[in-house]
Amino acid sequence: MMSWLRRKASAAVPGEPSAAAAGTAEAAGENPDGGALAAAVAEDRELPEVDTSTPLLTVRGVERSFSVGGDTLHVLKGINMELYPLQLVMLKGRSGSGKTTLLNLIGGLDQPNRGEILFKGHPFHSSSDDKRTYIRRQDIGFIFQSFALMPLLSAWENVELSLRMAGVPRSQWKGRIAHCLELVGLTKRMHHRPFELSGGEQQRVAIAKAIAHKPSLLLADEPTAELDSQMGAQVMAVFREIIRTERTTICMTTHDQTIMEVADRVFEMVDGKFVGRDAG
Ligand SMILES: Nc1ncnc2c1ncn2[C@@H]1O[C@H](COP(=O)(O)OP(=O)(O)O)[C@@H](O)[C@H]1O
Ligand SMILES: [Mg+2]
Repeated sequence: MMSWLRRKASAAVPGEPSAAAAGTAEAAGENPDGGALAAAVAEDRELPEVDTSTPLLTVRGVERSFSVGGDTLHVLKGINMELYPLQLVMLKGRSGSGKTTLLNLIGGLDQPNRGEILFKGHPFHSSSDDKRTYIRRQDIGFIFQSFALMPLLSAWENVELSLRMAGVPRSQWKGRIAHCLELVGLTKRMHHRPFELSGGEQQRVAIAKAIAHKPSLLLADEPTAELDSQMGAQVMAVFREIIRTERTTICMTTHDQTIMEVADRVFEMVDGKFVGRDAG
């Protein structure tokens, strides 16, 4: 079991910043920009620097269908959900239930036929491709089941590519790449290319690449599906650390019941709809 991975009682709950975090902010004094706070941040990064009571992403009445050979295939049939800052949210459901389709909509890669998707107030359902691409490059990270690394580039160069794409100033690259590779525990493998790494290590490079530009939202489509349970557990530990120190929200899909134990929230999808307490 992965009970060692379970979130701490103080982990993010919408509208309830952790007691420890609130205490630290108070101790830092009246001026929130003061040196005391900076010192506190350096020591304890669990500070309420993001508003966890307002959704990062809102999905309302979303439907998505595709034309297949003259027929209309209804894949998503009215999805409602909210993702709050610092949450680890999982979408579960059988193959073909619509999880990847929903993840693509949330990330602005695709648009719904009906309904609304608001990311930090930006209406993805009505924004142009260019606008969505811009927001995605700045503020969303993607991780895929098959890692999607550039095979001829080293771990370091793969992460660098994502900073280049996001338009991060070159002067910041070195420090940020080193930080991200350290966060995923790959400092010693930074010059290895993907084929010189294990599956778990490749997935951790993919994570470093996906968070390099400091996205608010990290989306991961079955990130542990190709990994054995130990490597899958490592990936989940890295996800928890990313939420804590990078202040990111993570939404991922999985089939794995053991992995689901570490989620803050699980949405179950059956045939294009959420079931259970999330239905409606
Ligand atoms: N671009 C597309 N064109 C036609 N059908 C699609 C397209 N994308 C997904 N589908 C169909 O939608 C259904 C749900 O797919 P998907 O979202 O990938 O499910 P999951 O990720 O839960 O396995 C499947 O039947 C799939 O074939
Ligand atoms: Mg899928």
